[in-house]
Amino acid sequence: MAYDPAQKLVFIPAQFAAFPYFPDKNWKPSPVGFNVGIDQAAGAMPADAKVRAQARAATTGAIIAWDPVAQKERWRVSFPGPWNGGLLATGGGLLFQGNAKGTFAAYSIRDGKELWSFPAQTGVVAAPVTFMAGGEQYVAVLAGWGGVWPLATGILAEKSGPVRNVSRLLVFKIGGKASLPPAPALNELPLDPPALAGTPAQVAEGAQHFGRYCNVCHGDAAIGGGVVPDLRRSGFLADPKSWQMIVHDGALKDNGMIAWSPVLTPAQIETIRLYVIKRANEDKALAAQGG
Ligand code: HEC
Repeated sequence: MAYDPAQKLVFIPAQFAAFPYFPDKNWKPSPVGFNVGIDQAAGAMPADAKVRAQARAATTGAIIAWDPVAQKERWRVSFPGPWNGGLLATGGGLLFQGNAKGTFAAYSIRDGKELWSFPAQTGVVAAPVTFMAGGEQYVAVLAGWGGVWPLATGILAEKSGPVRNVSRLLVFKIGGKASLPPAPALNELPLDPPALAGTPAQVAEGAQHFGRYCNVCHGDAAIGGGVVPDLRRSGFLADPKSWQMIVHDGALKDNGMIAWSPVLTPAQIETIRLYVIKRANEDKALAAQGG
């Protein structure tokens, strides 16, 4: 948040987002994984275009200029989705913020009108700062996309549009001439999964394990948000042996994908693969219907 002592306004980077809090009735703490006691499988987004459209419509973000004395909103800038950046208000009447659309922008503190913007090539989550050096004023922001929103929220992760993480310190001044290299491609892999496999009981078991151990990074209902691989599109989905080497043995642990052998057996890990295959096929069918 930021505060303007001249106008006595508080600026709030507001998030409008719901979460399905289904308790996991059989929950026990686990030595690895996300230990919050929530049944992520029960709360997973169904492959239903109407339900998804409703959830997307209800999930937004805004900058709200709030007058704490009058207890009133003065103005608001609306965004398609949440997870926009922290705010900086300057004595010169400017409000700076990066956002989930990949833009870094300056607004008038008076009415929220956008005065300037810069394509940051990545989502921006951090709050900017301003400083003086050599008699000049600078505005700096740590640009980069991540956190629980793009990791865990599945179909909602890209509500503001697809952005990728490009970690950079961006520094601006009046008359600054530097420019960024061309934006990296999104590199979205095709949704081309193997045919359905396994029994319904195996797939249902895989949904439970996925919700408990994988959902927090690879996304609700196995829908990736662009920061770590989207498992529906993974080349390893069709290759049970490599799947075990990665998930059970930890072949990619140096890149942040740990071994799950302390908590999951190879047979359980195989059920997760069967579940992700099912999810990928459902979403491919939805996409074919324009969903
Ligand atoms: C803490 C975050 C995190 C969790 C939890 C997690 N993963 Fe990963 N996973 C990653 C990251 C990061 C990568 C990318 C590693 C790389 O770049 O080589 C990855 C990569 C993978 C890959 C390789 C995909 C590809 O196409 O390159 C598979 C398969 C995978 N994870 C499966 C799983 C399964 C199954 C679970 C649950 C048992 C799980 N992951 C839980 C972070 C996570």
